[in-house]
Amino acid sequence: MDNIAIKIDHLSFGYEKNVDVINDISLSIPASKYISIIGHNGSGKSTLAKLILGLLEAKEGTIEIFGKELNADNVADIRKDLGIVFQNPDNQFVGATVADDIAFGLENRQVPHEDMQAIIEEVATKVHMEDFLSKEPVNLSGGQKQRVAIAGVLAMNPKIIVFDEATAMLDPRGKREIRELIVKMKDANPELTLISITHDIEEANLSDLIYVMNEGKIIFSGTPEEVFANRAELEKIRLDLPFFYKFKAALLEQGLPVESCHDLTSLVSYLCQ
Ligand SMILES: Nc1ncnc2c1ncn2[C@@H]1O[C@H](COP(=O)(O)OP(=O)(O)OP(=O)(O)O)[C@@H](O)[C@H]1O
Ligand SMILES: [Mg+2]
Repeated sequence: MDNIAIKIDHLSFGYEKNVDVINDISLSIPASKYISIIGHNGSGKSTLAKLILGLLEAKEGTIEIFGKELNADNVADIRKDLGIVFQNPDNQFVGATVADDIAFGLENRQVPHEDMQAIIEEVATKVHMEDFLSKEPVNLSGGQKQRVAIAGVLAMNPKIIVFDEATAMLDPRGKREIRELIVKMKDANPELTLISITHDIEEANLSDLIYVMNEGKIIFSGTPEEVFANRAELEKIRLDLPFFYKFKAALLEQGLPVESCHDLTSLVSYLCQ
């Protein structure tokens, strides 16, 4: 059996009495995978992330992180295994320079000063920000700030990293950079469990598994291919499909036998024959 990173059992939560925005969710997220959570605005994605991170307390149900049930006594301990990158790059910067910012979490964990510099340089290099260590945040683009936020999280060496719409406020180039970085991080760190909450359907298409949320429930889960096979249901809840699936569907409607094409390259080779 796969190692399970997060096991959720009959989880419910509401900000107000009698209004559950997380509605009896049960799921098991396998470890060492790249997971996307998609769903329209207000479907409960960020609330679910905050419950997993122990920032909100469940009304009913349980959450286990690597087999340990999250509770008030162990939340601080379990959170050491978790890192999060939020949406707004400006709200995540706490240091006066890039190096200070990355150092912040290390200082909190009382990492000895003589070890810090090497860690800072290593994680800054991983996000391609090694030449910016003495720069101030005002001089960085949104994408660069998000890369620094990711470096800060990597410095903590967590087992699970959650991205809550980390690319939403970035321009197309920034989005592409972070998207590529996520894939690269996963390749360089096969043990890591990455959970990306995203409205970027092309990004979701790169992940190993997708969970689709609607009205506080998980309505589909599986590989991108399995999930995007539910085209009509996804359209009903106003979720778009990646370009590849729309293109393939349009070709099938035209009577072209492209059923066995599983990616854009094979579709294009078929068309160019
Ligand atoms: N602090 C809060 N107090 C009261 N209600 C809240 C609060 N935060 C979120 N909600 C409500 O809970 C529901 C789920 O919100 P949540 O932020 O989890 O959705 P989301 O899927 O992350 O949406 P988005 O895609 O817009 O980020 C929504 O109806 C939202 O209005
Ligand atoms: Mg959200």
